[in-house]
Amino acid sequence: MNSAETEQVRVIDTGAPPERYARGWHCLGLLGDFADGKPHQVSAFGTELVVFAGEDGKISVLDAFCRHMGGNLALGTVKGNSIACPFHDWRWRGDGKCSGIPYARRVPPLARTRAWVTSEVNGQLFVWHDPQGSKPSSDLAIPVIAEYGDPEWTDWVWNSIVVEGSHCRELVDNIVDMAHFFYVHYGMPTFFRNVFEGHTATQAMRSLPRPDATGVRLSESTNYSTESQSDATYFGPSYMIDKLWTGGTDPEADPNIYLINCHYPISPTSFRLQYGVIAKKPSGVPDEQAQTIAEMIAKGVAIGFEQDVKIWKSKSRIDNPLLCEEDGPVYQLRRWYEQFYVDIEDVQPEMVNRFEYEIDTERALTSWQAEVDENLAAGRTAFGTMIENTAQADVPS
Ligand code: FES
Ligand SMILES: [Fe+2]
Repeated sequence: MNSAETEQVRVIDTGAPPERYARGWHCLGLLGDFADGKPHQVSAFGTELVVFAGEDGKISVLDAFCRHMGGNLALGTVKGNSIACPFHDWRWRGDGKCSGIPYARRVPPLARTRAWVTSEVNGQLFVWHDPQGSKPSSDLAIPVIAEYGDPEWTDWVWNSIVVEGSHCRELVDNIVDMAHFFYVHYGMPTFFRNVFEGHTATQAMRSLPRPDATGVRLSESTNYSTESQSDATYFGPSYMIDKLWTGGTDPEADPNIYLINCHYPISPTSFRLQYGVIAKKPSGVPDEQAQTIAEMIAKGVAIGFEQDVKIWKSKSRIDNPLLCEEDGPVYQLRRWYEQFYVDIEDVQPEMVNRFEYEIDTERALTSWQAEVDENLAAGRTAFGTMIENTAQADVPS
């Protein structure tokens, strides 16, 4: 190869995952899962945390490593409203103050560990993370989902998976990635629009199922397997509320599903992805059956994430993606995302200014429809298998 040709080759800039963790509210999970009076260890932000409910029921989050000799409080015991270290029984209150050392004459007056600022919204527990040590301002509060707790809606169906080997930016990139919905999730976006503003980033999408994929494999049936409308907003770096209209729900009416897609970083190259679903109970359907519906939806969401995870696990980190016109605003999204990784005084207007972009899906849809038609004409599915004539198979011989 001569040098001129070499120069034309696009080279991937992998960059490096940031050492610091995003500033913002991070959801640790459902409140109910931490309320059992036992300490819970959470690996997050490159360290270990302990989450516990005292006798008064108040849930607190502390650094897990005891300031005495480094014992792990998550292996300790809740005593009163304090967590007792398993090493020498020092007691730590939810506000971080050492509340007692049973074998000592007096507690060192400055004995205090780090208590994380928490918030409880939508039946979920959040911690505020900021390497600069700021307190969260009220305009960054996680919005309340009024439907949560409404008897006409189910309770959360909640799941989580640890993604190893990827920075959580891979997940956030999905906000603008229109084309992957066809290739990875077997949906056909007909409308796709992004709005970034302040600490929020929104993706509005309408999509149709791929006819060569629906009903082919039950194991691939996702929330993209039916005609749907989705209005998804990140509030800060890690918590997305996705309003969904599925199964013929009137897009002018209220959504029939709320999906939470959230995560917290474990290390620069791993994160815990969590997702939860509440669904409006269809009228006349008993509660148990409605809960089953929510569980099925959550299963569909799980399949969707598994499809993403498979891609993330095998892909390269890329700081300089090569884009075409039909791709979403990846660079603008990453600029928005950058605001959470710089000191607050270094946040630039282009990270937070309102930005809107709608992808023209026409060209993509023409090409995708042709691909689908070709598959169907050849009796092929999107998965490369042959379409089985199930109607015939059902006929008793
Ligand atoms: S290390 Fe925790 S009490 Fe000693
Ligand atoms: Fe995805």
